[in-house]
Amino acid sequence: MIEFQDVKKVYQTKKQTVEALKCINLTVEKGDIFGVVGYSGAGKSTLIRLVNLLEQPSDGSVIVGGKDLTKLSPKELRAEKKKSG
Ligand SMILES: Nc1ncnc2c1ncn2[C@@H]1O[C@H](COP(=O)(O)OP(=O)(O)OP(=O)(O)O)[C@@H](O)[C@H]1O
Ligand SMILES: [Mg+2]
Repeated sequence: MIEFQDVKKVYQTKKQTVEALKCINLTVEKGDIFGVVGYSGAGKSTLIRLVNLLEQPSDGSVIVGGKDLTKLSPKELRAEKKKSG
């Protein structure tokens, strides 16, 4: 199961602050197939990069298989990343 709880992602560049994801809550049960649809710049790629913590959320929790990935040590996170793709 994949669960997002109040996930936010903010990109800070020299010129601007971009709120790419604002308060995302979703649950994907084991075996479910989801598509992510939206306009260019809606945040689809950002959302997917957060599923296995290729990027860290600015706030909120990403829970995969019962583990909150945002709370793992770098070593534990590396082990979890090997299980996802
Ligand atoms: N590394 C980054 N630094 C700064 N802003 C970023 C970064 N990555 C994404 N963004 C911004 O975050 C927002 C969401 O981008 P994202 O790439 O997730 O959208 P997308 O839905 O995948 O778009 P597309 O359909 O064009 O692939 C956009 O405003 C984008 O400019
Ligand atoms: Mg994209």
